[in-house]
Amino acid sequence: MVTVNQQRVPRKRTYLMCSPEHFAVEYAINPWMDVTMPVDPELAVKQWDRLRETLVGLGHEVHLLTPEPGLPDMVFAANGAFVVDGTVYGAQFMHEQRAAEAAAHRAFYESQGWRFIAPSETNEGEGDFAYLPEAHGGLILAGHGFRTELPAHAEAQEALARPVVSLRLVDPRFYHLDVALASLDDGNIVYYPGAFSAASQKVLAQLFPDAVVADDGDALAFGLNLVSDGRNVVLNSEASRLAGKLKAAGYTPVPVELAELKKGGGSVKCCVAELRH
Ligand code: ARG
Repeated sequence: MVTVNQQRVPRKRTYLMCSPEHFAVEYAINPWMDVTMPVDPELAVKQWDRLRETLVGLGHEVHLLTPEPGLPDMVFAANGAFVVDGTVYGAQFMHEQRAAEAAAHRAFYESQGWRFIAPSETNEGEGDFAYLPEAHGGLILAGHGFRTELPAHAEAQEALARPVVSLRLVDPRFYHLDVALASLDDGNIVYYPGAFSAASQKVLAQLFPDAVVADDGDALAFGLNLVSDGRNVVLNSEASRLAGKLKAAGYTPVPVELAELKKGGGSVKCCVAELRH
């Protein structure tokens, strides 16, 4: 039997979330969304609140964005921008139904005095970007194929002055990077290889030989859509097998139930943007 002696160290984070008060499935822009499926917005708020309390309970700071009527996907706060080293690279949504969310995020960052860089390229913020401060001196991983467009990767590199590694997503069920890959700490990731092109899988295997590798079941349970502080890994409660793998790797899984929001095609990470000073 292998024993893990590794002591994983949590780091205090600052997050941005937005209550699902106006959450609904009124249009279908990803394969998980079914407009005929009833949504219980009260239950969505309750489950989202538990997620917020869980993050606060772990010692993190959570800022709140005011939800706006007519923007039912605004709860997925990860899509509104991508923040690295105090600089905010704004989002420009692929679908018109979500376009107005970008301005709400921009107003939040500008009111807080962050350095904000407006995009000219289509990109969905942290939904398609991940940052690993200790990997190769500070590396950005970026997805393309469904939402964020390739030119945005170059634009993000210029905006944030960190190398951006482009990864091609090939399975429409995993339409954002953050449903297929997550950072577990400053230097390591967990990912589902099947969501990526064969070449991108090779790139990930080369850069992250110690990554935790997830399987189809983990990915379909939205397990990869997780938020980690370096030790505590907050993830969808349905992803119990992935929780076991993370535990074996020395992390502490913290399951949360987010079944209502899954109807919009998102889970834990989609609801949480990280503000990195
Ligand atoms: N319904 C939303 C969309 O399709 C879900 C976004 C999920 N967010 C995420 N970061 N993966 O755009």
